[in-house]
Amino acid sequence: MSIEFNRRIEDIPVYPAASTYAFEGELVKLASNETPYPPHPQVLEAVEAQLRTLNRYPDPEKAFLRKRISERTGVPVGRIAVGNGSCEILLAAADAMLEPGAEVVYAWPSFSIYPHLAAMSGARAVTAPLNEAGEHDLAAMATEVTAATRLLIVCNPNNPSATAFAPAVIDDWLHEVPRHVAVVLDEAYVEFSALQDPDDSLDLLDRHPNLVLLRTFSKVYGLCGLRAGYALGSESFRLAVDRVRQPFSVNALAQAAAAEALAHQDEVERRVEQNVIERVHVESELAERGLETTESQANFSWVALGDHDEDEIVDGLAARGVIVRAGKALGEAGRMRVTYGTRYENDRFLAALDELL
Ligand SMILES: Cc1ncc(COP(=O)(O)O)c(C=O)c1O
Repeated sequence: MSIEFNRRIEDIPVYPAASTYAFEGELVKLASNETPYPPHPQVLEAVEAQLRTLNRYPDPEKAFLRKRISERTGVPVGRIAVGNGSCEILLAAADAMLEPGAEVVYAWPSFSIYPHLAAMSGARAVTAPLNEAGEHDLAAMATEVTAATRLLIVCNPNNPSATAFAPAVIDDWLHEVPRHVAVVLDEAYVEFSALQDPDDSLDLLDRHPNLVLLRTFSKVYGLCGLRAGYALGSESFRLAVDRVRQPFSVNALAQAAAAEALAHQDEVERRVEQNVIERVHVESELAERGLETTESQANFSWVALGDHDEDEIVDGLAARGVIVRAGKALGEAGRMRVTYGTRYENDRFLAALDELL
């Protein structure tokens, strides 16, 4: 006799780890949309100061961090949920809102965690394919809404296709979505978008009470190793996700680091500018090699491999110490997703690619 598990877990996808190779040398990691820059020195100081208090539980209210987020965004503290990465908030939203008979709508390919939400809750996942340009088909998504729909997710900019809409487009479209549906606008990469300032989407919250903006400290803030993200929405959304989670899910180091990182918007701007420089470099070099990309508003490119064999390219890069993400692991074969690194890393990627094309 063996132990038994909930049958639902068989439907939960396993996180598609990037190919890892026994490469003897310096690995170039361009597979997880991380920032290549280390945390700001004052963020490191804030973390160090917390080390002496690790005998205590972290603040379950995340009061200091929520206050800092409130000061930065103008959203009242009661409407701010902080999570162990923004993924935790997504999973908590599924726990709080989905059940068998309910539906969740999202585009595909999109962020790999979304299929977990239906699988873990027994709800039905309804997916709307991206259009030719790699954009969400917002009109099609709105028509998928039924009386059973509880949650609709728009990833803006989208991972993995890198495309985005300006807030005005989202604003217009939100009027088409019934108010009983919670709309999560996943803005993990919003700082990188040239179509908006991150503050622009905050105005949408006033006009759409069913809207939740989901943000993270993992991308431009460079703190993915600590795990912190947040949601701005209604007070009832915040209370619901807090109910279904353990109270201490966001550790003290993450809370302190995230609060300090918010104070360094000049660093955010510097990283965004650097990202633009590297994006233009990588995109133009790929174009010279005959490889097409979608219009990136993020810190990565979604590259069409044309006649080239995806496995040969992705595995060949890994064998040369450059880790990118295979399109087929992300929902669309014949592509790869490559994160922009430092100039040195990007040139290692391009040089390795040249050996394979
Ligand atoms: C679209 C999107 N949302 C959210 C996240 C998750 O971030 P976190 O590290 O905050 O859980 C990612 C990370 O890759 C992402 O691509």
